[in-house]
Amino acid sequence: MKIDFQETTKDLAVRIDIHSKFGAKNIDTWMLDLVNLQPNDTILDVGCGSGKQCFSFYDRLNGKAAITGGDVSNDLLNEARAEDKRRNSGMTFMILDFNKEFPLERDTFDFISCCFAIYYAENVPFTINEMHRVTKKGGRLFTTGPMPQNKQLFYDILHEATGKQIPLMPGSSRFSTEFFSTIKSLYSKVDLHIFENPLTFESIDPYMDYTRASMSEDRKLWGSFFQGKDDFEKVMQAIAKVAQRRLDKEGKLVMTKVVGGILATK
Ligand SMILES: C[S@@+](CC[C@H](N)C(=O)[O-])C[C@H]1O[C@@H](n2cnc3c(N)ncnc32)[C@H](O)[C@@H]1O
Repeated sequence: MKIDFQETTKDLAVRIDIHSKFGAKNIDTWMLDLVNLQPNDTILDVGCGSGKQCFSFYDRLNGKAAITGGDVSNDLLNEARAEDKRRNSGMTFMILDFNKEFPLERDTFDFISCCFAIYYAENVPFTINEMHRVTKKGGRLFTTGPMPQNKQLFYDILHEATGKQIPLMPGSSRFSTEFFSTIKSLYSKVDLHIFENPLTFESIDPYMDYTRASMSEDRKLWGSFFQGKDDFEKVMQAIAKVAQRRLDKEGKLVMTKVVGGILATK
């Protein structure tokens, strides 16, 4: 499946910031408690973006780990490298296109993570196979992605504002089914864990910031919504109107993120 998608540093940073300000829970704490990393683990984060997971692994292990982050976006990697330099944490950030053979030796890592990225792979079995190849025997894979119930309010408001059918999301439509069974076919022990995080908005601006960062023109997934030159702003205005009406009625907007985490052992 060819997915026309490109994350920008700004959109990703806005969403990370909104999750931390308006979410009731912290996804990194959930992930870290679940995966129980061990000191001196060799770790690879695939689709690491600006390094969010790499830095949380580093902090949890007080720096006692060899951590590599790989991503296809040099801009995002540069953000990660700048943070690494600021902290003097000595991590490695490398270009890694998960649609191609990873430039890494087999049986290298104790732990591989891939958070909110696997569903952009053109050929998911190929990418998971590459992750499996570079995992040590007995090592683990942890991957996260949205579940079908994820951020229902966001899609309800969008549908009410535009009258358009919501496109099939490449992540939530396949994460707990197709991806889970692909991982199960390769790894010995595989479990699905669920994380629910309500984001509560008491004013419209942060909700619209989140909407813009999710639907900006870089995210070609939304192509059918924005065919004309001015369509993006028109759609944003229609969404703001519906969201404000709901906010006036309910006093708040509660959008619940429902995330799946697949933990597998090689
Ligand atoms: C939603 S972001 C998640 C980033 C990070 N894991 C986080 O949670 O903050 C998706 C990431 O997948 C990366 N990505 C997309 N296609 C990729 C590819 N072909 N190979 C490697 N990374 C890719 C993007 O550049 C982006 O950093």
